[in-house]
Amino acid sequence: MKLDVCFTPNDFNAEKYSGYYAVVIDVLRATTSIATACANGCQCIMPVSSVEEARAIKLQNPDVLLAGEREGLLISGFNLGNSPYEYSREQVAGKTIVMTTTNGTVALNKAATAPKVYTMSFANASAIIYVLQQAKKDVVFVCAGSDGKFSLEDTLCAGLAVEQLHHITELSDTAMAVQAMYRDFSGNLPNRVLQSSHAAYLCRIGFENDIALCLQQDMLDVAPVFAAGVIAL
Ligand code: MLT
Repeated sequence: MKLDVCFTPNDFNAEKYSGYYAVVIDVLRATTSIATACANGCQCIMPVSSVEEARAIKLQNPDVLLAGEREGLLISGFNLGNSPYEYSREQVAGKTIVMTTTNGTVALNKAATAPKVYTMSFANASAIIYVLQQAKKDVVFVCAGSDGKFSLEDTLCAGLAVEQLHHITELSDTAMAVQAMYRDFSGNLPNRVLQSSHAAYLCRIGFENDIALCLQQDMLDVAPVFAAGVIAL
């Protein structure tokens, strides 16, 4: 089992990672919200890259929920923002959610060529690690990052997976780096992540409570899979 890590979606290359399973990580907050929506019984989530695409789908399918964010905030006319607190059972059970976020849904669509694409966050880390361990395939973790740049929280979540997986035959340089970072920071993860630029931004716009929620490990026993344009269990 070879493990590799892309620090940003731009580092993902379909040819280079041909045959690898992909695991997309956007801890703050897209993949935490996706895990929450799946755990609360949504029918599926369609991750799209643009607001226009989401609105066009809603025009054809009025029953879908539009969800996501730009600059962390609710998009005009959308039903849900990107706070995991909004993806309650009352809101999402049985619903199709069309989601567009700044980095997370972009990363998902970039990684879509992989034979299997999972979405991971701290909230569903063990569920994902379990399925990867069973599959014994090569894995590339694709961190959503922030506007094309490295982000600490996604990297640490990848580090947790690298640390916990067994039967590894090869670790890339980035996989070794995320493992070392995770080992160094894991004793004080919440404080470290609070110092990250996206966490600081979310605090400034009033989503401080989301950060604590997004850092709670293994609240959700779900392994969402992205296939044929939809994320489902
Ligand atoms: C993203 O996809 O960039 C995010 O999940 C941003 C956020 O809502 O915090």
